[in-house]
Amino acid sequence: MIQNDDSMVVTHAVEKTYQVGTGKIKVLTDISISIPKGSFVVLGGPSGSGKTTLLNIIGGLDKPTKGTVMVGGEDLTEQDEDFLADFRCNHVGFVFQAYNLVSTLTVAENIAFPMEWLQKPGAEIEKRITDLLKMVGLTHRENHFPSQLSGGEQQRVAFARALANDPEIILADEPTGNLDINNAQKITQVLQLLKDQGKTVIVSTHDPEIRRLADQVFILDEGKLASADE
Ligand SMILES: Nc1ncnc2c1ncn2[C@@H]1O[C@H](COP(=O)(O)OP(=O)(O)O)[C@@H](O)[C@H]1O
Ligand SMILES: [Mg+2]
Repeated sequence: MIQNDDSMVVTHAVEKTYQVGTGKIKVLTDISISIPKGSFVVLGGPSGSGKTTLLNIIGGLDKPTKGTVMVGGEDLTEQDEDFLADFRCNHVGFVFQAYNLVSTLTVAENIAFPMEWLQKPGAEIEKRITDLLKMVGLTHRENHFPSQLSGGEQQRVAFARALANDPEIILADEPTGNLDINNAQKITQVLQLLKDQGKTVIVSTHDPEIRRLADQVFILDEGKLASADE
C-alpha cells in the first residue's frame, strides 16, 4: 500500500484520456496528490481544466486511464462496479454542480434514498432526515418536490442527501457556482460545519469564501497540477 495512515486520498500519476472520434484527448496528466484525513481541500483552475473529472475519479464514479487512486485505504482502480457502488454509498458524499435530485421524490424521500439503499431502520432514517433538514435550514420543505424549490434550496437538499450516511469524505463540485450570495453563504456554512466535524472535504470552486476554509489548494491547468499551495 502506498498510503500512509493519515491520508484519506492518495493519487499516483493519474492520467485520464478520452477517445473522441478517431482521436484521443488527455484531460488529466500525471496527477499525484495526497490529502490527509480531516483536511479541507479546494480544487481550482479554469473551466475545462479537469476538476470534475478528478473529483469523479476520487469519488469512484470514474476510473483513470493510468495511475492509482487510494481512498480510505482502498485502491479504487482495482475494484469492480459493485464494490464501487457500495463504497460510494457508505463512504463518499457527492454534491454535483447540477444538484441531481430525483424529481419524482419529495425532499425527505431524496434524503432517505441513500439510507434506504443500505436498508437502515425506518426510525433511524426519519431521525436523520429531521437532523439534516435542520442543518441545512429546510425543515419546512420536507414534503415539497425539487421543482418547488429554488436552485439554492435544491443544492442544500443535495448536501443533506450527500451527508445521509455520514460519509468520511465529501466531494462537492462547484457547489455555489450557480447560486446567489445568500444561498452560497448557507452552503459555505454547511462546509464550515463539516470542516469543524473533522470530515475530509474536497471542493472544486472559484468561490473565495470557500477558499478561505481550505487547508490546501490545488490548481489544475489543462489537466496538469499547476500549483499546490498550503
Ligand atoms: N466524456 C467525455 N468525453 C470527452 N471529453 C470529455 C468528457 N468529459 C470531460 N471531457 C473533457 O475533459 C476536459 C476536462 O473537463 P472537466 O473535468 O469537466 O473540467 P472542469 O470541471 O475543470 O471544467 C474538458 O476539455 C472536457 O471537454
Ligand atoms: Mg467541472
